[in-house]
Amino acid sequence: MGIQFDAAARTFTLSTRSTTYQMGLDHLDHLLHLYYGPAIGQGDLAAMYPPADRGFSPNHNADRERRGISPDALPQEYTGCNTGDFRLSCLVVREENGAAGAEWRYASHSIQKGKYALTGLPAAHDEENEAESLCIRMEDSVTGLALELLYGVFERQDIITRAARLVNGGSQTLRLEKAASMCLDLPFGRWDMIHFHGRHAMERRMERTPLMNAIQTVSSTRGASSHHHNPFVILCDRKANEEHGLCYGVMPVYSGSHRTDVEVDQNGLTRIVSGIHDERFSWQLAPGEAFTAPEVILACTENGLTALSQQYHRFIRHNVCRGEFRFARRPVLINNWEATYFDFDSDAIVRIAEKAAALGVEMLVLDDGWFGKRNDDNSGLGDWFVNENKLPGGLSPLIERVNALGMKFGIWVEPEMVSEDSELYRAHPDWALTLPGRAPVMSRNQMVLDMGRPDVVDYLTERLTDLLANNPIAYVKWDMNRNMTDVYSRVLPAERQGEAAHRYMLGVYKLLETLTTRFPHVLFEGCAGGGGRFDAGMLAYFTQIWCSDDTDAIERLVIQHGTSFGYPVSSMGAHVSACPNHQTGRTTPLWTRAVAAMAGTFGYELDLNKLSDEEAAQVKEQIAFFDKHYQLIQNGLYYRLTDPTEEERYAAWQFVDEEQGETLVNLVLTHPEANARPLHVWLRGLAPDALYRVESLDIHGCHAAPQAGLDLAMEGVGKTYSGSTLMHAGYTLPQLAGDYPSVQMYVKRV
Ligand code: GLA
Repeated sequence: MGIQFDAAARTFTLSTRSTTYQMGLDHLDHLLHLYYGPAIGQGDLAAMYPPADRGFSPNHNADRERRGISPDALPQEYTGCNTGDFRLSCLVVREENGAAGAEWRYASHSIQKGKYALTGLPAAHDEENEAESLCIRMEDSVTGLALELLYGVFERQDIITRAARLVNGGSQTLRLEKAASMCLDLPFGRWDMIHFHGRHAMERRMERTPLMNAIQTVSSTRGASSHHHNPFVILCDRKANEEHGLCYGVMPVYSGSHRTDVEVDQNGLTRIVSGIHDERFSWQLAPGEAFTAPEVILACTENGLTALSQQYHRFIRHNVCRGEFRFARRPVLINNWEATYFDFDSDAIVRIAEKAAALGVEMLVLDDGWFGKRNDDNSGLGDWFVNENKLPGGLSPLIERVNALGMKFGIWVEPEMVSEDSELYRAHPDWALTLPGRAPVMSRNQMVLDMGRPDVVDYLTERLTDLLANNPIAYVKWDMNRNMTDVYSRVLPAERQGEAAHRYMLGVYKLLETLTTRFPHVLFEGCAGGGGRFDAGMLAYFTQIWCSDDTDAIERLVIQHGTSFGYPVSSMGAHVSACPNHQTGRTTPLWTRAVAAMAGTFGYELDLNKLSDEEAAQVKEQIAFFDKHYQLIQNGLYYRLTDPTEEERYAAWQFVDEEQGETLVNLVLTHPEANARPLHVWLRGLAPDALYRVESLDIHGCHAAPQAGLDLAMEGVGKTYSGSTLMHAGYTLPQLAGDYPSVQMYVKRV
C-alpha cells in the first residue's frame, strides 16, 4: 500500500484504502497521468491511451515521426509551457530574452515516511503518523527550471494531497506568470460539476451543472478566497447522488486569489487545473530560488457525495486543523456584536455576561469597537490600544469581572486592515496597499495593509503578542472585512509587483503561525465579514470560522448545507441571534434558531437580558441539550437528509457517531403547507441489523395548532426499530405547522 514505484513499468502507484492514483513515464521521460479512482491495484495502465494521430495536435520534436503521440491528447501530470498541449496549462515561465517555454523530463524521485511540509504555506500534517510522501523531480533542460511534484498519501483517510515546487537551477532570472498547484486529467467519464458560490451574507450555495465542452472556472481575484466562489470543486458522475456514484473533490489549501479551471477537451478528457489565480500574478525566480505553489487536497469515492464530504470532514479535523482545539470541547459563547454593535461600555458588556453566565454560557466575546477611536466603522482600525472611554482602566478590569462570573473572555481583532482615520495610517501611510498617483478604492471606508512587508508583520506580531500576553484572553475572533484593491507594494521593485498579492498571504500565514504557536491555549476563530475566507488554508490556524454574517436561522440552513460539502460542523461558527433577525427581518422560534446553530460550533449573539423568562429558560435547556450531545454533533458523521434546492418544505440533517451507536435527527419546517404532506425522513448511516430505540422526540416552536398525526409520531418514542427499518422504511415525524418549527429526534442503539 502507500507509494510504489515499478521500475520495469516505470509507473508510480499511490494507494489509499479505497483509491488508486497512477502516473507513468513515457519513452521520452515525460510524466503522464494514468488513473485516479476507486482502488484497482497496481497494473500498468499506459495501454489505455493508444496512440492516435489527431489533426492539429502536435508532436514533440523527438516524436515527429510518431504522430500518434501528442502532448495535446495524452493525460499530463503537470503541463509544460508552450510545448504543444493547447489545453489548460499549469505553467507560464519566461526567460530573460522573453521566450516562454518548458518541457518537463523526469530526473529523479524519492519516497518518504511522513508528510512533506511547505515553507511558508499551510499544509496538511501527519500528527497521527500515517502518511507517506512522494517527490518526483522533473527538469527543463533549456531554462534549468526544476519541478518538484509533491504527493502526500493518507491511506486510512483516503486522501491524496498535492503541491508543486519550482526551483530555478539555471543561471538566468526566470519569471513565472502562472504556477498552478496541480493538474488532474480524468480521461473517461461524463461529469457534473458542483461548486459553492454566493455573496456577502449568503455564502457557499451549492450549484450543480453538467460540464460543458468548454472551460468553466471557479475563482477569486479578491485577494481572499471570497464569499463569492469557495475554493472547492466537486466533479461527480452525472448520476451521482448523496449515497451513490463516483465523486472527486479538489480543495486548495489557500486563502488568497485562487482559480480552478475545468476543461473538457476534444477527446472528452476532463482536465482540472487548480492553484493561485494568475491574473496580475508574476514571480521573479533568481538562480537558486524556489517558488512553492499551495497544496491541494484530493478526495475520491464511488459512494456518493455524503461519503466524499465525510472524507473531507475527517481530514480537516485530523490533518488540517492543528493544536489543542482540534478535538477539544469548544466553549458555548456569547458575542456582543448584534447585541450592541459599537454602542457599549464595560457595564453594558458585564450585564450581558451576567445574564449569559446564569444561563450556562461559557465565554463572552467582545466584538468590534473596543480599541482606538472606533465608534463606528469609519475609523480606528490599526490602533490596537484599548479605548478607555468605553473600557475604563483597560481590558483587565473587564476581563476580571467576566472571569469572576466563571466565564472565559474572547476578543475581536481585524489586524490586516487600517482606517484612513487612525494613528497607524497617519504614522505609516506607505503601509497600506495603494497605487501611485491614485486615491485608493475604499471598502467599508478602510484600506488593506501590505502584509507582504516584514515590518508590517513585525508590528502586528508585537501588538497582538502584547494584547494576548498581558490579558487572560482565551479566544480571538480574527476578522478581515474588505477585499484587496490597489495591489501595489511600496517596498517591491517594479518587476516584483506581480508578487504583492501572494506575498500578502505569506505574511498573513506567517503572522498566524507565530501567534498560534506562541499562544497554543488561545482558540482562534476566523472571519471575513462572515464566511469570506472559509477555506482549508485558514483552517490550519483557525479551528473554527464564522460561517456568515447572515444569522437568520432559515437562511443559515442553506449556507450550512453548502458549507457541509467540504467542511466539518466543528469548523462552522454559528450563533443564535435576536428576532426579528437583523439581516432579513424574519421571526423564527428561539428553539429553531438553536437547532440551526447547533449544526455548528454554537453560541449566542444577542442581548439575553431582553429575553422573557420563558425564553431564558429555553436558552438553558438548549445549552444542556447541546452539552449532552456535544460529541455526537461535533465529532460524529454528518448526513444531509434534504437538499434545499429540491426540497423547499423542510431541511433535515443527521449526526451519527462513528460506532453507529446513536443518532440525532434534525428537521426545520421552512414552508408550512395547507393540507400538508407528511414529514417523512429516511435515516442514514445506521447499522442495518442493530436495534435502535427512539429515546426522545422534541418538538420546538410549533406555535400553530399542530395538524393531525402528531400523536402517532409521538407514539414511536420508547419503541425499538431495526437500523434497516429506520433507513429503508423511514420515520414519519410530527406534522408541524406554523412559522419555522423544528424537531429533534434522538435515537440510540439498544
Ligand atoms: C464582520 C463580522 C461580524 C462583526 C463585524 C464587526 O462583519 O463578520 O461578525 O464582527 O465585522 O465590525
